[in-house]
Amino acid sequence: MIVATSFLQDHHFIEALYIVAFVLFILGLRGLAGPRTAPFGNRLAAVGMLIAFVATLLIEHVIKSGSDVALMAVGIGIGTAVGIPAARGVKMTAMPQMVALFNGVGGGAVALIAWVEYRRRFPEGGELWNLKAEIPSLFAAIVGSISFWGSNIAFGKLQEILPGRPIQLPGQRVINVLLMTVAAVSAVVLASGVHSQALFILGVLVAAALLGNMVVLPIGGADMPVVISLLNAFTGLSAAATGIALDNTALIVAGTLVGASGSFLTNLMAIAMNRSVPAIIAGGFGGGGTAPAAAADGEDRQVRSTSADDVAIQLSYADRVVVVPGYGMAVAQAQHAVRELMDELEKRGVSVEFAIHPVAGRMPGHMNVLLAEANVPYDHLKEMDEINPEFPQTDVSLVIGANDVTNPDARENEGSPIYGMPILDVDRSEQVIVLKRSMNTGFAGIDNPLFYKENTSLLFGDAKDSVTELVSEVKNLG
Ligand code: TAP
Repeated sequence: MIVATSFLQDHHFIEALYIVAFVLFILGLRGLAGPRTAPFGNRLAAVGMLIAFVATLLIEHVIKSGSDVALMAVGIGIGTAVGIPAARGVKMTAMPQMVALFNGVGGGAVALIAWVEYRRRFPEGGELWNLKAEIPSLFAAIVGSISFWGSNIAFGKLQEILPGRPIQLPGQRVINVLLMTVAAVSAVVLASGVHSQALFILGVLVAAALLGNMVVLPIGGADMPVVISLLNAFTGLSAAATGIALDNTALIVAGTLVGASGSFLTNLMAIAMNRSVPAIIAGGFGGGGTAPAAAADGEDRQVRSTSADDVAIQLSYADRVVVVPGYGMAVAQAQHAVRELMDELEKRGVSVEFAIHPVAGRMPGHMNVLLAEANVPYDHLKEMDEINPEFPQTDVSLVIGANDVTNPDARENEGSPIYGMPILDVDRSEQVIVLKRSMNTGFAGIDNPLFYKENTSLLFGDAKDSVTELVSEVKNLG
């Protein structure tokens, strides 16, 4: 029994478990690269996390007294009781704010660990803590605290608890620089070994907390998914720094993976929106996104409104239909009705494909997830580069709640704020039908010339109601 316990607590055995855990993290991340492999990838990473957790419990000093175990059990109990129902019940459209909340908790935990470690290792008047551990710990305290508070603001904006528009104080940038200076100077003073550590560690945490709020408040609500991805990368980096301070390999590897993948994701999202990360952080864009479109140069342009029975005829007699889903399909939860429409059209011999823009919706892979939920076969989904050359041979493009990702100004109008963003070339198909409720703009808050083109008609109404009506009209055609 004693031999078994000492084997389990052997340093090499624990390190081996950590290696198994992060191999599973890496394989899990690989799995997340595609919708088909994502569920399995997610499970692999979860098993990896369980192994890392058990390995940490085996470390000799971790379970050293009955009270520690009881505290851990309470923590696990609360986390499980809150986390599982929240994750199961969350609506797909609320996923970005859910990620913000969970990510913020990670950053907060890292900042608290740094604080606790200070109190534990460096009691008032105690020995100077090893700088090799102290510097990463201070880094973790600053970045973790920024991430926690910034993520909470991001959550508040997306959940509409806070206004989505950019909120800016006069002299905001100067305040930010001052806060960063207070955090950094407090950290340097601590590292130099002063005796009033409690005051300075609080200085680090409070200044970073205020900075987290101040940096995210001026950013428009609709830019939040990119900000969340950036904060996620911050949390990863701060966790990796905590791993260095605590000499914990699993934390170093897992934190670095989150930091690196979060940074890549942030960059890819920014590129796909033709925005730079510094421009997003500077704020002031995409705060509202629902203003009615103003006609360019005061010109009174007309849109052609159509009816469900006319659209049903156009679709039923087409050879090839391309569905272009966007944020409105997610809001309306129209994906199941869309799948039904696809089935009805395919029964009539119409070829139906889906054009997926990388930033359609409000989070990466948003459309893929919704269509997978409605069991639309993966081989019907075409990425932007693959489908764009096919639009000129398309009879009808059915745009369902998409706007910015189809805006030809991004291709043609150098003065447009989204100029240069790659778009789906739906305007090049023979006919375009756009399903939306009004002439309101999308995320970028700008008018879309597609709606005024001669080959475009608009079917006004909630996307789910409109598609459901289309399904019954197509069925009525016999
Ligand atoms: P948007 O340009 O945001 O347009 C959505 C359209 O859906 C609006 O025109 C809206 O018009 C319509 N709509 C909303 N609710 C609807 C409903 N219930 N029924 C029917 N229509 C409805 O969407 P998009 O084309 O998917 O583009 C995404 C935008 O978000 C891009 O600008 C992208 O840069 C940005 N963004 C994306 C991400 C990621 S990672 N995907 C992250 C942050 C920002 P009505 O109000 O008139 O109905």
